[in-house]
Amino acid sequence: MAQPLCRIKRRPVLLLLLLLTAVLHAAGAHQNYPCKPPYFNSFPFCNSSLPIADRARSIISLLSLQEKIQQLSNTAAAVPRLGIPPYEWWSESLHGLAGNGPGVRFNGTIPAATVFPQVILSASSFNRTLWRALARAISVEARAMYNADQAGLTFWAPNINIFRDPRWGRGQETPGEDPMIASTYAVDYVSTFQSQSGWNPNSSFFGAKKRDLADSDSRRSSMMVSACCKHHTAYDLEKWRNFTRYTFDAQVSAQDMEDTFQPPFKSCIKEGGASCLMCSYNKINGIPSCARGDLLKEIKQQWGFDGYVTSDCDAVAIIFEDQMYASSPEDAVADVLKAGMDINCGTYLLRHTESAVKLGKVREEDIDRALFNLFSVLVRLGLFDGDPAKQQYGELSSDHVCSKEHRDLALEAARQGLVLLKNDGGVLPLTRSSLASIALVGPAGNRSEVLGGGYSGVPCDAKTFLDGLRDFLPSTVFAPGCPNTSCLSADGFEEAALVAGAADVTVLIAGLNLTEETEDHDRVSLLLPGKQEELVGAIASSSKKALILVLTGGGPVDISFAKDDPRIGAIIWIGYPGEVGGQVLAEALFGDFNPGGQLQVTWYPESFTDVPMNDMNMRPDPSRGYPGRTHRFYTGEVVYEYGYGLSYSAYAYKFLSAPSIIRLRNSSSEPPCEGDDEADYLRIDDRTRCEDLGFRVRFLVMNNGDMAGSHAVLLFSRSVASISGSPKRQLIGFERVFTAAHGATEVEMLVNPCKHMSAANEKGERILVLGAHVLMLGGEEHELLIFA
Ligand SMILES: *[C@@H]1O[C@H](CO)[C@@H](O)[C@H](O)[C@H]1NC(C)=O
Ligand SMILES: *[C@@H]1O[C@H](CO)[C@@H](O)[C@H](O)[C@H]1NC(C)=O
Ligand SMILES: *[C@@H]1O[C@H](CO)[C@@H](O)[C@H](O)[C@H]1NC(C)=O
Ligand SMILES: *[C@@H]1O[C@H](CO)[C@@H](O)[C@H](O)[C@H]1NC(C)=O
Ligand SMILES: *[C@@H]1O[C@H](CO)[C@@H](O)[C@H](O)[C@H]1NC(C)=O
Ligand SMILES: *[C@@H]1O[C@H](CO)[C@@H](O)[C@H](O)[C@H]1NC(C)=O
Ligand SMILES: *[C@@H]1O[C@H](CO)[C@@H](O)[C@H](O)[C@H]1NC(C)=O
Ligand SMILES: *[C@@H]1O[C@H](CO)[C@@H](O)[C@H](O)[C@H]1NC(C)=O
Ligand SMILES: *[C@@H]1O[C@H](CO)[C@@H](O)[C@H](O)[C@H]1NC(C)=O
Repeated sequence: MAQPLCRIKRRPVLLLLLLLTAVLHAAGAHQNYPCKPPYFNSFPFCNSSLPIADRARSIISLLSLQEKIQQLSNTAAAVPRLGIPPYEWWSESLHGLAGNGPGVRFNGTIPAATVFPQVILSASSFNRTLWRALARAISVEARAMYNADQAGLTFWAPNINIFRDPRWGRGQETPGEDPMIASTYAVDYVSTFQSQSGWNPNSSFFGAKKRDLADSDSRRSSMMVSACCKHHTAYDLEKWRNFTRYTFDAQVSAQDMEDTFQPPFKSCIKEGGASCLMCSYNKINGIPSCARGDLLKEIKQQWGFDGYVTSDCDAVAIIFEDQMYASSPEDAVADVLKAGMDINCGTYLLRHTESAVKLGKVREEDIDRALFNLFSVLVRLGLFDGDPAKQQYGELSSDHVCSKEHRDLALEAARQGLVLLKNDGGVLPLTRSSLASIALVGPAGNRSEVLGGGYSGVPCDAKTFLDGLRDFLPSTVFAPGCPNTSCLSADGFEEAALVAGAADVTVLIAGLNLTEETEDHDRVSLLLPGKQEELVGAIASSSKKALILVLTGGGPVDISFAKDDPRIGAIIWIGYPGEVGGQVLAEALFGDFNPGGQLQVTWYPESFTDVPMNDMNMRPDPSRGYPGRTHRFYTGEVVYEYGYGLSYSAYAYKFLSAPSIIRLRNSSSEPPCEGDDEADYLRIDDRTRCEDLGFRVRFLVMNNGDMAGSHAVLLFSRSVASISGSPKRQLIGFERVFTAAHGATEVEMLVNPCKHMSAANEKGERILVLGAHVLMLGGEEHELLIFA
């Protein structure tokens, strides 16, 4: 962009100038950026040789109180006299660029962006290399969109709340129910998304290196784009019965807080180096999340957080208007600014901060503190470094969005995440040569809008399930069966049964859509929506061969009926597979790849809906018939357990080596371990020297099948002794492993007992139970003694 402008300067022909300006506009590049020469680049905040903090302070020092207040909203105002244009903080990038916030716009030269699978599906791959590759690809598209003036630089992803209850409408957006997985995913997404290093425009997504993880140098320095750990904290209820997220008071025990709700946030910040934290709508033990100064202080001081804190949208207004926690709008503003929140998604701070200052409830220093965090992040992103086209990422353009590489990655993610739940008598894979016709049934079969799930943008080129099957077998016939996934009418059943009866094989797409589970909407039942179960029954009766049932959606579905029905040969869960979902389903059915995804959430039976969703307790309480939640604590029956997933092969494991005894300390001068009535344990805190205590577990993964494949190996442990509220088991290691047909792969995992095998006691202190522990790998077990 620079060269034509230089030429104009020398030959100022007005017509040419206008023409070129029009061309530049059409190309969608930024016209209006801060520090634009010749007048506005002389401010100290534009000098990239100065330290970040000095540049941030320089801006603040030049603003009047009114101008400062205008910066406290997601739509931050321009400061024309300083050459600063407006900035939109709110862009979304959960599984690709999404138009949910005003920051991302698909109305320019880039009309679409890759819709990768919804997070719960990609997470089911248990593949960290894949997670990093996704974050890198999304960051490349994000920066390209910014260069085209169609996005900001600050993105409000990932969603790392624990998928605590199967009814949660936004569970689909998360990596699932396990805190160790959510923590790992958070670190991978954030560190890669933000990182400068390992980025190469020519190989946009394989550039994400393992090294990035602990790249502490980049913490306070430049970023490619900014990620946000949301929603802090204990946020996992939308609208269920008479509870809504806007007023819900999550009653969380210190124990659950320490070992379920906080670990993902702690990792996201400490290891991921996140530059943003979003405080949630709900209250936590009576106090609105954005007013929890105690928690925000701990995050800054103990976790080293140095980014900005944004509220969820309108989460400050509700503190006064809905929660009635504050007694005036000004008090709500004071509560959050004093607590350490920096910016409000919404206009509440724009409207009420000035009067809060006049009333003496907020000081100008409180605002300056917030602005320092905000401007520091924008400086790190290069916003004040001049023309985006001339910057490090200036060459990222529409060529880098919807690229072949990104489409291949979207395919890869859906393939790796897809979960095979049932395959009786080897119904799958189908053999192409012996098939004359396939019937596809189901309301989602020919609809592209069901592919992405929540927070989807405009897809580059969506492939429906019907498109995908027709690529394999052009004669595939289709009948929706129901008008939509709500399936309130059986009018289409007869047509669908005829279509199914005439085909060699029938594939039925059932399951969930955003109508059943989405933001601001939880499910009340875990069964298939509407008359879908009847549809499955009708089609199963009329199909020639055993039916293949495919389930869409993020949350678990109680499909016990289908699990036990011999007329249903196979069941696949495909989540929200992203824009290439149709191709991936067909590939799975025909055995072009070997399914190896495993569930990231427990599939509970319908009876679980007797458990109140608002009960935040993770631990079971037999005295009141409370079964607990997630694979770590739940004591009831399951439809499919956490980590479940079949393949076209059969895998077996064998421990090769693991220690039998671990000694945690070697000097008697250290304080003795603590104990209670039930078991001895060791307190783990920042002073505990655990780093050197990691041990290696080596094992063999054997593929006893005829097809090569990748799947995740999950290493669990349980302690034989327990204290009150000890988990039944916990995940202490995972890795996706490739094994050749009839081959074996040796795997090594590093386990840190303090980090991975500890849990919280009732006081919320992290402890490690001493004595015998059992490592579990499939059905194999290995016993280990931990001594102090
Ligand atoms: C930018 O800051 C550096 C370091 O203080 C200084 O040497 C340089 O003169 C400044 N540049 C401009 C254009 O002011
Ligand atoms: C795209 O939409 C935004 C917001 O609605 C608007 O401000 C902008 O002018 C539009 N851009 C184009 C090229 O139409
Ligand atoms: C993990 O994902 C990467 C990136 O898609 C892929 O290259 C690799 O094969 C995957 N690993 C396994 C074991 O499937
Ligand atoms: C990317 O490829 C182009 C064209 O092949 C080349 O000119 C450029 O130097 C490459 N960039 C990097 C960072 O490798
Ligand atoms: C919701 O309804 C239940 C039973 O009708 C009642 O006990 C409870 O107080 C209500 N909760 C709220 C937040 O209104
Ligand atoms: C599938 O959907 C497309 C686009 O909505 C439509 O044109 C086509 O007729 C549909 N195909 C069938 C078999 O229903
Ligand atoms: C899926 O949900 C969206 C949003 O509620 C709706 O517009 C669409 O019609 C639904 N599609 C189907 C097939 O149910
Ligand atoms: C689903 O279809 C029914 C008609 O059977 C209609 O009343 C309802 O609005 C549709 N739902 C959606 C989300 O489109
Ligand atoms: C154990 O003691 C030895 C000798 O005092 C010391 O070198 C070593 O670092 C200690 N190990 C741990 C894990 O503290």
